Amino acid sequence: MTIAQFIAKHTGRGKRHAKKLLEDGEVILNDHPISDGKTELGKFDHLIAAGETLQANTARYILLHKPAGILSATKDPVHKTVIDLIVEPWASELHLAGRLDRATTGLVILTNDSKFSESLTSPIRKVPKTYLVETDQTIPPEAIAAFRTGMSFEKEDTRSQPAIVNLLSDNTCRLTIYEGLHHQIKRMFLRFGIRVISLHRESIGPYPLENLEQGRWKSFEPKISN
Ligand code: URA
Repeated sequence: MTIAQFIAKHTGRGKRHAKKLLEDGEVILNDHPISDGKTELGKFDHLIAAGETLQANTARYILLHKPAGILSATKDPVHKTVIDLIVEPWASELHLAGRLDRATTGLVILTNDSKFSESLTSPIRKVPKTYLVETDQTIPPEAIAAFRTGMSFEKEDTRSQPAIVNLLSDNTCRLTIYEGLHHQIKRMFLRFGIRVISLHRESIGPYPLENLEQGRWKSFEPKISN
């Protein structure tokens, strides 16, 4: 929608009124006066007309440290969700850029900017996600070799990118994968009869969890271009 159309609609006073406000320098777009009513209004543009804020949508980018037991969902009738951990009036605008299983801890990114979330979750982008994994038994060399080669996932009709695997002990490793398939890491280990007993996401692309405490969140500035 153009700025003129938006003003006409939201003031309820029609196109001619919008045109006059624009001509009179009464319209401010993102802190600058604007006279061209044909400019398209973006979702996160801040628009004031005749001193009245008509649109003030703020782009939100949130890093959250999900504790175990909290759902990676925006709403749930029974369980607490990641949104319940953000006690802010705008929390309900947010959606998730990639989920974690209920028992998994670590980094979850939330935003109201769908282009940004898509830039993190689109399979084409191959954004790395790094996890600490603990298993119920020794991780064998065959599993590491298969992860590093890439594995086929029949249900999704896809093949994983070669993963980065650093063995930290017999049954713990740091694993970087480039997809976000449902239960991906658990399924990768299960191919070798191994169960994942704890899983923690440390980073998504250029965004590390760092020392954010469990259950806490913070805002950040996006780095990935939309
Ligand atoms: N892989 C899994 O199996 N579970 C997660 O929560 C994330 C990746």
